[in-house]
Amino acid sequence: MWNAPVPVCVNVCWQMLEVSHLKKSFGRLTAVDGLSLSAGSGEIIGLLGPNGAGKTTTVSMIAGLTVPDAGEVRVNGAPPEKRQIGLVPQELALYDELPARENLKLFGALYGAGGSALDRAMKEALELVGLAGRAGDRVSRYSGGMKRRLNLAAALLHDPEVLLLDEPTVGVDPQSRNAIFDNLLALKARGKTLLYTTHYMEEAERLCDRLTIMDHGKVMASGTPDELYRLLPATNMVSLELETPERPLVLDGLRGKEGIRTIERVNDTVKVSVTDLTRDVPGVLAWLAAQGHACRHVASERANLESVFLMLTGRSLRDP
Ligand SMILES: Nc1ncnc2c1ncn2[C@@H]1O[C@H](COP(=O)(O)OP(=O)(O)OP(=O)(O)O)[C@@H](O)[C@H]1O
Ligand SMILES: [Mg+2]
Repeated sequence: MWNAPVPVCVNVCWQMLEVSHLKKSFGRLTAVDGLSLSAGSGEIIGLLGPNGAGKTTTVSMIAGLTVPDAGEVRVNGAPPEKRQIGLVPQELALYDELPARENLKLFGALYGAGGSALDRAMKEALELVGLAGRAGDRVSRYSGGMKRRLNLAAALLHDPEVLLLDEPTVGVDPQSRNAIFDNLLALKARGKTLLYTTHYMEEAERLCDRLTIMDHGKVMASGTPDELYRLLPATNMVSLELETPERPLVLDGLRGKEGIRTIERVNDTVKVSVTDLTRDVPGVLAWLAAQGHACRHVASERANLESVFLMLTGRSLRDP
């Protein structure tokens, strides 16, 4: 009987971007320490980490601007060519005194583009980022959000397969942020591969299919947001607002019960983190009732990815 060939490449070759064991040191400081990640076509992956985690250094090595000490970057299974990668840098790279269109021409020239092909690419990129009507304006007249969008357009002119976005929404108002997100989702829908670095967990969760959390140059965890949530020992916080808060209540009897992770009292409310809502909350309510307490209001909230980060790294994602 004829056997179909085994698709040995399934887990490897479909990845548009593969980064393996990248390392970079500056003097005695190891900025990136054996970092690996991968992303498929039509996928947005998030690279999250606090200041100095090594995000920009990683992006810069993928873009070919910084030479790694060790490790490898592959795009579509081979060492990347310049035209396959677009970089939206953390620092705006625009000439304020030039109109947006002239800025884009300069970027196009960097990739050897010109003539009608560049005109078409500029028109398309400006339309995608919603700046087609303002292309003749000097960048100095742009808002912060418009500059960020032009920065994005500049990275798209050569139609790269992989787009690296290094904190593209810093200093951007919520409306422009939404506009940028829509632009990125449109690129994803076209099958592009996006690597998005940020300090903002909410952003990453909203936008990214998978996330890599890094700190001190190393991957601390990676997976879909749901997979990362599952790393948390307690996945739900329940707030129980007491009907008669003035009545004495000693919470010690609740501590150590199965499924109860943490417990604290904040004013009129008892906050309990539980492993399993359905299994653990009835026991908490019954215990409170046995103490002579009823609840005015019970609410549960899901732990957020900030708490995952805190658990993994012992520090918060953003400087206080
Ligand atoms: N050219 C350089 N020379 C020396 N040290 C550097 C250089 N570039 C980066 N570093 C150091 O490497 C570490 C990682 O920096 P990197 O810019 O990659 O962090 P990051 O995660 O992008 O931080 P941020 O969120 O602040 O942008 C930092 O300690 C930084 O000071
Ligand atoms: Mg950075």
